[in-house]
Amino acid sequence: MNRNAQLRKIVEEVGEDLIWRPVHDFEKTRLTDGVGHDIDGIDPAFTTLSFKGKTVCDLGCNLGHFSFHAHEHGAAKVVGYDMEPKVIEGARKLAELHSISGVEFRVCDFAEEPADETFDMGMLIDILGKINISKGFLKSILKGLESRSRSEMLLTFRPLYHVEKHFGMSNSDFIRLYPEAVIENDHFDLLGYVQQLFSRRWNLIYLSREIKPEHQYKRTVFFERRP
Ligand SMILES: C[S@@+](CC[C@H](N)C(=O)[O-])C[C@H]1O[C@@H](n2cnc3c(N)ncnc32)[C@H](O)[C@@H]1O
Repeated sequence: MNRNAQLRKIVEEVGEDLIWRPVHDFEKTRLTDGVGHDIDGIDPAFTTLSFKGKTVCDLGCNLGHFSFHAHEHGAAKVVGYDMEPKVIEGARKLAELHSISGVEFRVCDFAEEPADETFDMGMLIDILGKINISKGFLKSILKGLESRSRSEMLLTFRPLYHVEKHFGMSNSDFIRLYPEAVIENDHFDLLGYVQQLFSRRWNLIYLSREIKPEHQYKRTVFFERRP
């Protein structure tokens, strides 16, 4: 089987509904759009980050888009974690097909399972969203990130959510779920929540250009552990 056919097989085996970003074959033909492609808002500032010589974990890695990005940009070691076995199998096959060593993929629910390893940098790209937040997973996801990150944490997320519209619940139900949450004008300040949770041990550094949060769909946020 040629390499493009192998790629098509990987996409078929994983299933398009589980693939988050577009996948292209070696001739740049798009094999699948990825279910999240229309809401991608990674800030260009992300690409200026240094991965050189660092060990990196990519939590909720899906097919490893950012795991491979960190590897290409000089990371010494990368481990991608995802709870979907089919996705991890696909990511491993992609690495093999592209002859990439130095990137490993592990099946793991990082919000539930204790850290098996720690890394210089932890990445949480596009994981905090309507579903995870309304199910009450926000804090355990952020703790899962922190417990695996020794020096740096990189996150992308939408900074403000309309509680009723996005989570389908009243403000008071939301506060019962997240007693520390701040709601103003019916909006949950996720950026403030994340910042507050990490404030004792981490310095917040924005990577996104300074645009009013309500005018920006998603922000890239970087934390450094305090000395
Ligand atoms: C929205 S996609 C983002 C994928 C990737 N970070 C990217 O930006 O291309 C979310 C991925 O995270 C995984 N995921 C969500 N919660 C998880 C958890 N608690 N543990 C492990 N994987 C998780 C899902 O299976 C899915 O593959």
